[in-house]
Amino acid sequence: MIIAATIEEVRKITKEWKKEGLAIGLAPTMGYLHKGHESLIRRSAADNDKTVVSIFVNPAQFGEDEDFEVYPRDFDRDSKICREAGADLIFYPSVEEMYPTNFFAYTDVRTMTEGMDGGNRPEHFKGVCTVVSKLFHIVGPDKAYFGQKDAQQLAVIRKMVRDLNFDLEIIGCPNIREEDGLAMSSRNAYLSHSERQAAVILSKALCRAAALAGKGERNATVIIQDLKETIMTETLAEIEYIQIVEPDRLRPVTLLEKPALIALAVKFGKTRLIDNMIWE
Ligand code: PAJ
Repeated sequence: MIIAATIEEVRKITKEWKKEGLAIGLAPTMGYLHKGHESLIRRSAADNDKTVVSIFVNPAQFGEDEDFEVYPRDFDRDSKICREAGADLIFYPSVEEMYPTNFFAYTDVRTMTEGMDGGNRPEHFKGVCTVVSKLFHIVGPDKAYFGQKDAQQLAVIRKMVRDLNFDLEIIGCPNIREEDGLAMSSRNAYLSHSERQAAVILSKALCRAAALAGKGERNATVIIQDLKETIMTETLAEIEYIQIVEPDRLRPVTLLEKPALIALAVKFGKTRLIDNMIWE
């Protein structure tokens, strides 16, 4: 497995691979890898001849008062996980390599980024789309792998790829959970013992919502109210949003008739967690 810190190195390697006719998969990450990330890498390694993992904590997607500085980092552990999961190349650039002085160009997807996780974080998806565009141009993958855990991010990237004619396929991968149901996230490391225990309520509430819809409840307002009440039984939980939207366009749904994305963001202390499920 090769570790490359510069764009030039990555370009040289991936160009060679392409000349040989090899299929390239890319799994973009911010590191501090867990089994969710690992599932993307394994899927890419199974689908492609070569797998590239990028590890880059992208400052452009963090707000001023967010956790960029303290975001957990452990490159040695990450590189071991990448190797074991079948990665061929890790792209591990510095901030200066990705954003040199006088960096002016940005990629953005309008409308779909204004609500949910973009609601209180106006620059967040612009930062995500910009870094993901750069990674696509640098690596030139045939397929890129993203988790359903970040459902809005996945929908926004799919739309960006379609609207801007990026020549690659986006593969959405299932949300990987801890044994008790908590969706895996690098930010789970911030949770105190009691917050970690309380956070299980998110997946429980989503399962309850699915059961409610399964019994025939179609009214989104009723389902959202049930989610709210369930989550509020945990005193440590502070709800940011609970929404039911179309999975691709993210427009609010009032009646569950077609597949719908039930998504939420809840804070436990200072830690903001997201979770979701697709109701079909
Ligand atoms: P990060 O949070 O590190 O996540 C990297 C990828 O792993 C994303 O596609 C995310 O959806 C996926 N992932 C995270 N937790 C998961 C889980 N429990 N199950 C399945 N997949 C999971 O998302 C980002 O980084 C960044 O925004 C990035 C796309 C790398 C751009 O900077």
